[in-house]
This record gives sequence, C-alpha cells and structure tokens, in this order.
Amino acid sequence: MNAPVLCVVGARPNFIKMAAILPALAALPTPLATRLIHTGQHYDPAMKATFFQQLGIPEPDLDLEVGSGTHAVQTARIMCRFEPVIETHRPVAVLVVGDVNSTIACALVAVKMGIPVIHVEAGLRSRDRKMPEEINRILTDQLSDFLFTTERSAENNLVAEGIERKRIHFVGNVMIDTLLRLLPQAPTVAEVVQTRHPGVWPAFTQEMAFGLVTLHRPANVDDPQTLKELMLCLAQQSKKLPMVFPVHPRTRQRILDAGLNEVLARSDVILLPPVGYMEMLGLMKSAKVILTDSGGVQEESTALGCPCLTLRDNTERPVTVTEGTNTVVGRNPEVIASALDEILATGGKAGRIPELWDGKAAQRIASLLGEALR
Ligand code: UD1
Ligand code: UDP
Repeated sequence: MNAPVLCVVGARPNFIKMAAILPALAALPTPLATRLIHTGQHYDPAMKATFFQQLGIPEPDLDLEVGSGTHAVQTARIMCRFEPVIETHRPVAVLVVGDVNSTIACALVAVKMGIPVIHVEAGLRSRDRKMPEEINRILTDQLSDFLFTTERSAENNLVAEGIERKRIHFVGNVMIDTLLRLLPQAPTVAEVVQTRHPGVWPAFTQEMAFGLVTLHRPANVDDPQTLKELMLCLAQQSKKLPMVFPVHPRTRQRILDAGLNEVLARSDVILLPPVGYMEMLGLMKSAKVILTDSGGVQEESTALGCPCLTLRDNTERPVTVTEGTNTVVGRNPEVIASALDEILATGGKAGRIPELWDGKAAQRIASLLGEALR
C-alpha cells in the first residue's frame, strides 16, 4: 500500500474543515491513502464526539490524548506523541488545518523529519502577535510546502513573508464546503431550542428574533474585567434582542470564576452548552445578528448572509468585512450597542459570497495533491 497522508485534527474548527477534505481525497480517481490523527486537544463529547458523528468523520486511526495544558505543555506533548506516529507510518505528507496548537506542533515535527507539510487555511494574518493563533499561523506557513488559501489577501501576506508563489494555491474555503453540504439538513431553531435544549428558553417561539453569541478568545474571556464588561453589555443588549449563547468550556469556567452567572441569569441571554455543528447551523441561519470572536463563525455568517459583529480589534479574515456581512467592532459596549441598533434598524450589511467559497475548495485541494504527491 502507498504511504499515507497523515491528516491532523485537534480542536473543534479542525473537525469541520477535515470533514470536507477527507472525502475529497478519497474521491480522487486514484484515491490518496490517508490516516486521521486526533491530537486530543479537544476531548469533551460536546467539543469532539458530537462533531465526528454529525459531520460523518470516521473515528481517528489514532488519538494522541494530549488533553489541556499551558501552550508549552500542550504543544510539547503533541510533538512528543506525534513523532513516533511519523516513524511508524512514514507518510508521504502531513496535512494540517487552521491555526491551533495541534497545527503548529505537528507541522514542526513533520518538517524536521523531512516530511512535506500541507497547510489548509494558510496566510491569514490579524497582525496581532498577542493572539496565540497568529504565532501558530506564521510559523506553520513558514514550514509548509503546500499552502492552500481561502482568500486573496492571504497570498499577499505570504509573499510579503518571503514564501514562494509556486507553493501557494488559492482554492477557497473548506469550512464553507461543509456548511453548504450540511445546511439543507440543519434543524430549525425551534427544534434546537425546544427539542434539543428543552426548558432553557420557555418563552421561545419559532418567530422570535434573536441574536447568537460565541466568545472564547483569551483576550475577551481570560481577563475578569474585560469579561465582566462584555457580559454586562450582552445582558443589557439582550433586553432589545434576546441572545442565544452556546458557551465554550474556556468561557464557562471564566464566567464561573468571575461570578458572572447571576448577571446573565437575570438577563435575556440564554446560555447553552457548546452546541453540535448541526444545531449551530440551525441557530446561525435564523439569527438576526451574530456577535462573535470566532474565526470560523465570521466566515460562516458571511456565507449565510447573516450580519456579524466581531468583538475583537482586528480580523485575519478581511474578506468577511470587505465583501461579507462582518463588521469589526471591538469590545467597547457603546460601540457594540450602536452597531447592534443599526443592524436592528436597517437589517445590516447584505454582503456577497467571496470568490471560490462555492463548496468545491476541498476538491481543488485534492486534485492538486493528487497530481503532486504521486
Ligand atoms: C483552541 C485554539 C483556538 C480555537 C479554539 C476553538 C489554541 C492555542 N487555541 O482554543 O485557536 O479558536 O480552540 O474552539 O490552539 N476545555 C475543556 N474541554 C475540551 C477542551 C478544552 O474543558 O474538550 C477547556 C480546558 O479547561 C482548557 C480550555 O478549555 O484548558 C482551553 O482549551 P484549549 O484547547 O487550550 O484552547 P481553546 O480556548 O479551546
Ligand atoms: N461551533 C459549533 N458549536 C458551538 C460553537 C461553534 O458547532 O457551540 C462551530 C462554528 O459554527 C464553526 C466552528 O465551530 O464551524 C468554529 O469553532 P470555534 O469558534 O471554536 O473556533 P475558531 O473558528 O475561532 O478557531
């Protein structure tokens, strides 16, 4: 049997991207052999198993079970456990996605062992080096042999960092491949609220307008004062528009630590555990507005035509602002409030679908790799 491509996943957004890539590699006229390696960075059923099941991803061939830790501990643990996997499989390449610790850790191990690295979602830059993801992106791109990009800005970023154009391929967005495939099967918001999370929002009716919130960036949730200001802002805005907030485990812990549960319980912010991908699609397609600091959700809101307010100072995905429905508003409560008012009054930015976000990005990746790796 041919040497496989080792495909690495670690965290929630990776599963959604890999769900498009694996079938595309398997669908080549001469399929590329693959092995799926999960580092174990995300492990709660609500952060992992639900996604494998809903996205139709096969069980990983190997789970490195690294779990949580500081950046150094987590990255080092992944590296130590990934090295013998390369020894065993002698892969033709290692494919990594996105910008999480699992991405850089496995790319670094592979390149030192002389194995070509494929980076899907290369070249995005926030220019904010305080974000761990920015460091992961810059370094992974420097190590990669094949850099697949989602938007035109990414190529300019890479070229400016000295990466040869011939290694860069603008293919579109695999996250949107998965969205377009599964959107027709997404539940209605009533099914999400009443059936899958009964009792959390007793006053809910299908026609009710609501905003959707996701927040998990360290810059927003790790500092208790920043978190408090954001939660008070959401609580206040929820009187205008109820907010549904599936809470990431990092954020759940920080809300508890900061004693903010009471404030939220008295508001119209409806807290949910992290929801599955299908539930998330159901919520996103019906929301009046999405307030987020997520990379993936900025893209998905653009693909769905739903206005998005990004509660950060920057975005590494500028096409969602220049062409899509996204507005970067930062974390000042007054700015957030007036941006929300404007969306409620006008319906917000209409936006258009960015170039090559057409559901075929993974096919383009597969056909390029099918040629290059034989
Ligand atoms: C990670 C990524 C981030 C990505 C996010 C997607 C890095 C540096 N960060 O952030 O880029 O946007 O995933 O969701 O790679 N935890 C659980 N259960 C889990 C996983 C995590 O309870 O299954 C808790 C643990 O307390 C852990 C904390 O969440 O310490 C943070 O997890 P970690 O994977 O380190 O970072 P994320 O904030 O999830
Ligand atoms: N997502 C989900 N359930 C949730 C929150 C997010 O399915 O409760 C999905 C979301 O639609 C997107 C992906 O998870 O597809 C984004 O992951 P996340 O925001 O954790 O990471 P980021 O994209 O910021 O790295």
